[in-house]
Order: sequence, then structure tokens, then C-alpha cells
Amino acid sequence: MQITRRALTSRKAQQFTESVIREMTRLAMEHDALNLAQGFPDFPAPEQVKEAAIRAIRADVNQYSITWGAKEFRQAIAERFERDTGLIIDPERELTVCCGATEAMISSLLAIVDPGEEVVVFEPFYENYGPDSIICGAVPRFVSLRPPAWTFDPEELAVAFNERTRAIVLNTPNNPTGKVFTRAELETIAELCRRWDAYAVSDEIYQYLVYDGAQHISIAALPGMRERSITINSMSKTYSVTGWRVGYAVAPPETSNAIRKMHDFITVGAPAPLQEAGTVALRMPDDYYEKIRQEYAARRDRFLPALEKAGFRCYKPQGAYYIMTDISDFGFANDVEFARYLVREIGVAVVPGSSFYSRPELGSQQIRFCYSKTDATLNEAAQRLMQLQS
Ligand SMILES: Cc1ncc(COP(=O)(O)O)c(C=O)c1O
Repeated sequence: MQITRRALTSRKAQQFTESVIREMTRLAMEHDALNLAQGFPDFPAPEQVKEAAIRAIRADVNQYSITWGAKEFRQAIAERFERDTGLIIDPERELTVCCGATEAMISSLLAIVDPGEEVVVFEPFYENYGPDSIICGAVPRFVSLRPPAWTFDPEELAVAFNERTRAIVLNTPNNPTGKVFTRAELETIAELCRRWDAYAVSDEIYQYLVYDGAQHISIAALPGMRERSITINSMSKTYSVTGWRVGYAVAPPETSNAIRKMHDFITVGAPAPLQEAGTVALRMPDDYYEKIRQEYAARRDRFLPALEKAGFRCYKPQGAYYIMTDISDFGFANDVEFARYLVREIGVAVVPGSSFYSRPELGSQQIRFCYSKTDATLNEAAQRLMQLQS
């Protein structure tokens, strides 16, 4: 009997392409280019946070911690969450420490979405949300954020909700656009979540990076939303430790219970000594958060005019640490071609806009710069990009 050969990989795996951001990072290394593609700082993490991690390892905090997070770290998260949102949460029942916001997002979606249910996603979106939907078998419904202010049409959003809608994935401050959702916008979203009995899954990883008086608001703090929100955050960006892989999801008890089960069987737990350091990090005084906000605002204010001088049309971000740009003036066929040109010929790696959209053509005249870099890196990048004008 002839056995027909099966595909070597699953249908789900076949639907993914390699992360374009990671491809750009690889190309950056190959061509010795400055990496303004992937969102990680090239400057050191705070000394007291690093020291706390070293102390924890020396004190032999080197075995599994509690699956859903070390007790003291969960206590520190609950304290910070209360400070930021005014909501008092029970660290024993309402939060799960995960391996970064990445794992918190996929464990949360696996915990609440059944295959075939719909998830509303604003686009452009942080590129993981696409594969996240595929992994949990969700049908994504995309709603446009439109430049220059990256606002959405409330009608278009309303049409995206129906009885199959399980959740909306929200990211404020937003990657890649730098948009900070306003209270009025969040009210519109919240109203639809309440009407359709849907969750708001809110990725707030850039919450402390807001500029020009913009205010970060957690949708969980709006009326009737605490019981239908999952708030995701991480140490990665706030404390410049993207390689540590420590994040968390705050959710009502029953939802947290389901997230904990997913998390347990996917990763068992986040790194134990780094959670000890997390306790120190999250309890840093307010002036730390003010300092990073000012530093990032200064980087933005230095780098954005340099991009404009080099010929980019920039969408000025109100939050996070990216600048989305319009590249139509350069006359390239598309964003990927332009990004490859930049990395090979100019020595600067960026992310092609299409990687943030469900259909590549929507981002074909955009690219994203990350400015979470030292002055030296940004100055050198600005200088190299000026070659585009010669
Ligand atoms: C919006 C957003 N969410 C999540 C992540 C990943 O976070 P973590 O390192 O905690 O997994 C990133 C990283 O760039 C991001 O931009």
C-alpha cells in the first residue's frame, strides 16, 4: 500500500512567516548596520535592578518559583497596579506572572478564546498579534487606525463586533504608531465590550512612556471593565531588560485561573531570580519613571527632526519608542525593498511597515524606526541617513 507523504509541519506553522523584525536584526548583524529595527535598548539596565538579580542568584533563588509568580513579586505588581489605576487587586487570585508580555498575551488568548471565535485587532498592530490569533484558532477582525493621528472610525469598530466576538486586543501606548488612546476612545471600546460581552485584552507595556502631557489610561479602570479586562505588562521596556522575559497578566479570578493553567503547561514559570529583581524594580520611586519619560522624550525630540531632514515624513509619537514614517517621497516600489536598501547601503536597519498590517499593501509606503538607543547610536544613524539626500 502506498502511503501518501504528509506535510512535515502543521497547518498552523505553515501560516507563519519568519518575524520580519528578527529578519532585519539578522541582516543588521550581517551588514554591520545600526539596528533601529527591533525594540530593545542598547543602553544598560538600572544598576539596582541588576544587583538584585545577582543577589538572588547568589542566594540560590535558582529553582522553580510558584507557577503563577513569586509571592513578593506579585505583591509588588499589585501595589504598582493600584498606584497606576486605582484598582485594588488580589495578588493571590488576580494576576499571573509569565515569560514576558509575549507569553502573557498568548496564554491569555488561549485561556479565553475558542477556535472560530473572533478577536478584534486594531491595525497597524504589533506583529505578534497575528500569529497569536492563529495559535488560538481565532478569526481576527481588523479595524484601521488612520494617520496622521491614528484614530479609528467608531462605526467601523462597531461593525467589527458581533455575537462571535470574544475579545478586542488593544495596545496603548501603541507600537508601531506611538498613539496613546484617549479616554473617549477607550469609552467607545468599553461600551462595545460591555454590549457584546467581550474581553478587552490590553497590552500596556509602554505605559510609562508618554509625552507632551498625554495620559495613559488603563481600560480596566473604566466603569464595568475590570471584570472583562486582561491587562498585560512586562519588565522588558520599563526597566530595559527585554532579555529577561518577565511579564504579567492582571485579570479577574476565574479568568486568571484559566490563564494560570495555560501558562503552567506552556512554560511552568518565569525565571525565579529575575522575579526577585522585579520586586525591586517595580518598587522604584516615582522619579525613576519620570526620568525615563524625560529621557525618551529627549531622544524622540532629537531623532524626529533628523529623520525629517533626511527626507522622511514622520508621524510624531505621543508614546512608546517608535517613529512610524511615510516613505513615499523616496520613490521605492515598496517598504521591504526600501528597508533592504537601508540596511545594505545606508547601514541602518528598520522595520518595513507591511509587517504591521494584515495586507502588505496597507503598509507598503511606511517604515518604523525604534529610538530606544543611546545618543551615539541615534546621532550616527542620523548621519548615515543623510546620505539619502545626496
Ligand atoms: C506592544 C508590545 N507588546 C509586547 C512586546 C513584547 O514584550 P515582552 O518582551 O515582555 O515579551 C513588545 C515588544 O516589542 C511590544 O512592542
